[in-house]
Amino acid sequence: MSSHVPQQRLTTASIRQMKGQSKIACLTAYTTPTAKLIDPHCDLIVVGDSVGMVLYGMKNTVAVTLEMMSAHGCAVMRGVRNSCVIVDLPFGTYQESKEQAFRNALRLLQETGCDGIKLEGGEEMSETIAFLVARGIPVFGHVGLMPQMVNVAGSFRSLGHTESEADKIRRDAVSVAEAGAFAIVIEGTVEIVARQITGSIDIPTIGIGASPACDGQILVSDDMLGLFSDFTPKFVKKFADISPLISSAVEEYVSEVKAGLFPTKEHTFHPRRN
Ligand code: KIV
Repeated sequence: MSSHVPQQRLTTASIRQMKGQSKIACLTAYTTPTAKLIDPHCDLIVVGDSVGMVLYGMKNTVAVTLEMMSAHGCAVMRGVRNSCVIVDLPFGTYQESKEQAFRNALRLLQETGCDGIKLEGGEEMSETIAFLVARGIPVFGHVGLMPQMVNVAGSFRSLGHTESEADKIRRDAVSVAEAGAFAIVIEGTVEIVARQITGSIDIPTIGIGASPACDGQILVSDDMLGLFSDFTPKFVKKFADISPLISSAVEEYVSEVKAGLFPTKEHTFHPRRN
């Protein structure tokens, strides 16, 4: 009998149980190689619709499609053995009705093998969240700054500065938690509001630009690696700066090619001697 025990990935239930026990470390990933590098260290990986901006050069996430999310979800799942993986439902694939949300969430779960889906929205999405959870689809909520709402909001700006904004975010978070989400992203929100929400709901809060007062944190991996240079939000810390390394490697390659110095003998095939 083989002594090999297949490794179990973290589930949405285990992420939920981490509230109050240990901080939850999350990153985004869109490709197999990045997922392989991130997976041994993170609790949860989000295949975010930020893929549209980060990999496709889109100006926001509005035009990201279900097909893109499925393809990148499959790519990430090929590189993961440890982390819980959540795939974003993109804009327009869940807002119309709870039935539309179920159909598209099911498609992502079945095509990618991921553990659950993430969708943006508060009170207005609570019925949909309850519908999905009651039918076997784990939901990761997302409140505060909601990038898919950019055309209504007018910009990506932090929220919770006025009492009415703060009240709306608190009500949104409570209704998402009560609807049965296993955890919730709080994006671009002032510390006091993130702290109040974290202390008042029984599911983990995962902050992005929402202060340390959350149960965990998420960053876009390309931001924290210094790979995405279009803009760097104030809340991002670059834990590495990969872009200059890529530029200097490319410069060196091009100058060696131009000078006839690459490939060398070492990188060239020659007939084998028997
Ligand atoms: O799209 C995304 O990458 C996200 C995470 C940063 C939470 O929504």
